[in-house]
Amino acid sequence: MKAARQPLRDYAFYPEGYTDERDTTEVPDGVRLQKVLAQAGVASRRACEEMIGDGRVTVNGQVVRRFGAKVDPAAQVIHVDGKRIPTAPDLVYYALNKPIGVVSTMDDPQGRPCLADYVEELAPRLFHVGRLDTETEGLLLLTNDGELANRLTHPSYGVQKKYWAKVPGPIPRDLGRRLKQGIELEDGLARADSFAIVQEHGQQALVEVVLHEGRKHVVRRMLEESGHRVIDLARIEFGPVKLGRTKPGTVRALSLKEVGELYAAVKL
Ligand code: URA
Repeated sequence: MKAARQPLRDYAFYPEGYTDERDTTEVPDGVRLQKVLAQAGVASRRACEEMIGDGRVTVNGQVVRRFGAKVDPAAQVIHVDGKRIPTAPDLVYYALNKPIGVVSTMDDPQGRPCLADYVEELAPRLFHVGRLDTETEGLLLLTNDGELANRLTHPSYGVQKKYWAKVPGPIPRDLGRRLKQGIELEDGLARADSFAIVQEHGQQALVEVVLHEGRKHVVRRMLEESGHRVIDLARIEFGPVKLGRTKPGTVRALSLKEVGELYAAVKL
């Protein structure tokens, strides 16, 4: 009996960087690809058509150049120049500058201020990506994209968070080395990825600590264990997203670029 021919795509000899240009992505009752891209904020429809024609757009990993291709923006994964474009119309992504005194839950049985007070109106079923202590202020991401939220908080993806802590000065020269070597806490070693002194004014200093883990009170405990009581703590970056000028108690929608960078940070 003649052996069935193996489809070409199953051979493992494609050179690195090869992209399959055969198009199996068409969704007959879908939305035109240039419209989906324009609605996501990539560029004008006209400019998106050009990007498609230039082979810069992939749908589910396949380059789609066909004029008028239709896709399902909620189910298919679309990249432009290798960057994921959030196209699902009901997915939302926000950054909140959580004020001190607000608990990092959507609801607080004790009636304390909580996240819902700031984001309840924005979308149903928003998840907060990790937590900040009640006494810590700063950047907290919120989304209804469950897969992204899970990955961003999963230690295996190692997404870095940057904190600024106000501590009493002066700062000994070896503090950065100690934090980077690791501080033994009661639940195990905690290591900073980087450390810097932002400002030092006699009795008070502002220090920057970057780490990629998310244990409870970890920055406070690391600094306190190394002899530096934390006066104030703020998270100013979460992976590629910066707090920037977002004022305490205000929320902003993440940009297309920021969402694409978050996807990339967790290999989505
Ligand atoms: N580390 C802390 O000590 N507090 C936070 O809220 C986050 C990290």
